[in-house]
Amino acid sequence: MKQLPPDTVRLLTSSQVITSVVNVVKELMENSLDAGASSIDIKLENYGLDRIEVRDNGHGIKATDTPVMAMKHFTSKICNHDDLERLETYGFRGEALGSICAVAEVAVTTKTEEDDISTQYVLNVIGEIVSRKPSHLGQGTTVSVLRLFRNLPVRRQYYSTTKKCKEELKKVQDLLMAYAIIKPDLRLTLLHNKVVVWQKAKVADHRSALLATLGPSVVANLLPCNHHQEPPEIFLDGFFPKPGADYLSTSSSGPDKTFVFINSRPVHHKDIMKLLRQHYAAQYPDGPCRNRYPTLMLKVSVPPSSVDVNLTPDKTQVLLHNKEDVLTAVEALLVSLYASQPRCETLAEKGISHETLPSPASPLQMDASQLVNETSEERDHTPAFYSDNLSRHAPEHIDAAMSTDASLKRQISNGSSSSSVAEDWVINHILEPEMTQSSTQTIEIVLAVKSPERPEDNAVLASDTKKDQLLAEDWSRGTALTSSSSGEPLQPVVLRQPPKHSHSEMDKVHVQSSSSKKLLNAITEKRVSLTAYDLISNRTTRAPPSPAALFEKEARAEVLWEKPTASLQDISVAVHERWKNLGEEDRKNFQTNSPNEQV
Ligand SMILES: Nc1ncnc2c1ncn2[C@@H]1O[C@H](COP(=O)(O)OP(=O)(O)OP(=O)(O)O)[C@@H](O)[C@H]1O
Ligand SMILES: [Mg+2]
Repeated sequence: MKQLPPDTVRLLTSSQVITSVVNVVKELMENSLDAGASSIDIKLENYGLDRIEVRDNGHGIKATDTPVMAMKHFTSKICNHDDLERLETYGFRGEALGSICAVAEVAVTTKTEEDDISTQYVLNVIGEIVSRKPSHLGQGTTVSVLRLFRNLPVRRQYYSTTKKCKEELKKVQDLLMAYAIIKPDLRLTLLHNKVVVWQKAKVADHRSALLATLGPSVVANLLPCNHHQEPPEIFLDGFFPKPGADYLSTSSSGPDKTFVFINSRPVHHKDIMKLLRQHYAAQYPDGPCRNRYPTLMLKVSVPPSSVDVNLTPDKTQVLLHNKEDVLTAVEALLVSLYASQPRCETLAEKGISHETLPSPASPLQMDASQLVNETSEERDHTPAFYSDNLSRHAPEHIDAAMSTDASLKRQISNGSSSSSVAEDWVINHILEPEMTQSSTQTIEIVLAVKSPERPEDNAVLASDTKKDQLLAEDWSRGTALTSSSSGEPLQPVVLRQPPKHSHSEMDKVHVQSSSSKKLLNAITEKRVSLTAYDLISNRTTRAPPSPAALFEKEARAEVLWEKPTASLQDISVAVHERWKNLGEEDRKNFQTNSPNEQV
């Protein structure tokens, strides 16, 4: 037996850490984020095979640290294994830069706040600095990776077809989208062959980040939800498809729009994904979504000590110490939102009875008659819509809702928990039937909550349900029902159809109500505008661009490259000139046969 030479060991281990173009981009981006960058520019040439450049405006690398920055197992992020318990950075191994040096040519330009100017360091295959020179770049770090996998012919060969290269570019874009969503205040740009492929400005919150990445037509069908549970402390935040929304606009055939984060890390978690897909798909009775992935963002936050991220070299898989608790929390949130069959399946799988589960109809699928007949059941279907109010005002009701789900019950008995779903959706949902009726119509109102602390309210309820038919106007003002003792308005309430309606009138209301719902959906569905996502994922349904447009795209980049200070007008004039001077034969090169051929 012989010991392998160090350079072979280095190449073998490095090529396990750095496996692809997207992998390099991920490692460099995460370094930038760990350095507190608020702006990151990623430039690829020849799909990253010739050049990958990641530039940030983070805190830079101290001059004293530069000699070891690409030495394997040197890191500024942890001091020993115990620090992993408190890990708040993406990096922790001190392996990425060193590994990239082993499979590509690397240069790092960096400047800290204290430095007067930036310095460019060229590194060799073992991460040592071989040359340095002053540079003009501002504060932050720029890492350039040239000729990736130059010494790994098989790996390089993998990217020999355009299809593979485009797939890789798509993966880079998907990765950037994930960071764009989880880091709303991050400014991001992606250039490929000097053409801006995608960019995202700094925005205020996750919703705006989703808007910037997925587009308004997708976000219109998403609902903000959150859930908190302890102990152990688990926070869930996210945007989920609205119950009953058109599945074509809230899911896709691949998992690329199902964004799951654990402690801000984009991850692939099989069990979480399974739950998300099951609960989402079960809303659609004929199973059209069985093989689809819901478009959503789920952010799971747990104590760092309960996550092991050192599982795979690309850090996209994590081990959760309290996996069952996290799954229960995710399930509770999904049940709150969809209150549907998959829970039955899941509970059945777990051997837990689900006899008391509510019927599977989603809130949007219910019509007005169901609202009349199932007022109390509906409240049980949608505990999350009320959870904040109810947890303060109606412990009995919460108990009732919880009793519909064994897993929720278990969760309550183990600790405290709360979920909420966006108020605006709740308001729309509650008001929808009302809006579909004429304004002069009367509505019968029944108290939704019995308050054990205020028995007099229950008395009011009993008498009110018998005699009162109240005007919608009063209801809108919130003065429809008052407590006999305090005179305060009673809340919360649900709407019922007036008993005086004939059957045919009721039918009319149902029709109006459901067609209005369809209309609402139709508007959101048909607002299919071109999104950044469509643009970069080759899913655009636009007609292929004209040869002139294609030429312009290419020529603009060229002009800008030649004259970086040119104004927009100068660029347009120059591009126009070039097109005019282009021969017929050359123009043919810019003809596309199918939209798929566009990058
Ligand atoms: N963009 C950057 N800005 C500031 N410092 C950086 C940057 N990139 C790398 N560094 C410094 O170089 C060190 C080595 O980076 P490298 O990516 O190899 O390791 P790491 O991030 O510590 O751990 P991991 O291997 O898990 O990514 C980092 O710990 C950090 O101090
Ligand atoms: Mg790193």
